[in-house]
Amino acid sequence: MAHYRRVGDVPPKRHTQHRRPDGGLYYEELMGEEGFSSDSSLLYHRHPPAAITDAGAWELPDLTTVANHPLRPRHLRLHELFPGEEWKRLDPVTGRRLVLGNGDVRISYVAAGEASPLYRNALGDECVYVEAGEARVETVFGGLPVRAGHYVLLPRGTTHRWVPHGEGPLRAYCIAAHSHIGPPSRYLSRYGQFLEHAPYCERDLHGPAEPLLREGTEVPVLVKHRGSGGAVVGTRLVYAHHPFDVVGWDGCLYPYTFHISDFEPITGRVHQPPPAHQVFAGHQFVVCNFVPRKVDYHPLAIPVPYYHSNVDSDEVMFYCGGDYEARKGSGIALGSVSLHPGGHAHGPQPAAYEGSAGVEFFDELAVMVDTFRPLELGEGARACEDPAYAWSWAGRGPAAG
Ligand SMILES: [Fe+2]
Repeated sequence: MAHYRRVGDVPPKRHTQHRRPDGGLYYEELMGEEGFSSDSSLLYHRHPPAAITDAGAWELPDLTTVANHPLRPRHLRLHELFPGEEWKRLDPVTGRRLVLGNGDVRISYVAAGEASPLYRNALGDECVYVEAGEARVETVFGGLPVRAGHYVLLPRGTTHRWVPHGEGPLRAYCIAAHSHIGPPSRYLSRYGQFLEHAPYCERDLHGPAEPLLREGTEVPVLVKHRGSGGAVVGTRLVYAHHPFDVVGWDGCLYPYTFHISDFEPITGRVHQPPPAHQVFAGHQFVVCNFVPRKVDYHPLAIPVPYYHSNVDSDEVMFYCGGDYEARKGSGIALGSVSLHPGGHAHGPQPAAYEGSAGVEFFDELAVMVDTFRPLELGEGARACEDPAYAWSWAGRGPAAG
């Protein structure tokens, strides 16, 4: 995120005295990536940001995974994970259920109505797609208003909390990396500006506009971080003063939102491959989105995808709007996830393949994550699988008896 931003009260020269009205000093913190050698921001706190008074274990929910074995495509009905009004007593951080994961990225899902505790992820950046509902994401950099269709990008180590509001549940699809997540480098100039061919640009990214300036003492913060042997563990730190005490900050590292409706789809006479739909990249995975668009206009075009063997990746689609053209006749509906693993070719269900000829517009909305290492199934996936999906192309499954 090389797009410079300045919010609130910062001194004219970095690393110099920045004084409060009463003459005391503010406390400067550099939050930076890659050990002082990449993007960073300077934040000015009313209180020392290191002042903790207690540390204890935070017991994380079940993060165990099992291999996709025997190998098969999967259909997961995420809405079934939160039946009835259960969402009303859950929050968007501790209520997450792990759906899929590997050593590079974990995908979880939550439906929630309560405000979350203060939280930060020390493992990597989070990219949270809001499927439904409204919330305010309060961060050490300031607040971000979010609604259905927003991606919320939270850099590693950003202290924040989710505060849902409005009528229904906040439904959030959480893509948590063990790395950083940002725009693909091919969209950017060598200095970090979005290029003309990119499907979105700086104007579509929205960062915090003003400091929050919260006061408080003995404030707990949940931290997700690395344990031994690659394990993910949690710690509850108690801060002497509220972490949202920043009077100003500037730099190129901060949380931001991007609304999926601001993604300008790239279309052609014949089928455009998924990289044309890419929105973000992380280490060993990419995020793409399929948005409502005019489709292929060659007179003999087949607008749904050709069958494809992604020999180097597992492909995860989250169906979050419209009616996904290539999955018609498969049981896929809103809130569904499909996992199409490497080692198995996939493509449209046969009726969708034939039926798409001559279609001019797809009213579909889906978020795709392609990973370059195999994904394993979390407890959330195991709890909401549609076992018939694997056989939906053939129209029949294993012979009975
Ligand atoms: Fe695919």
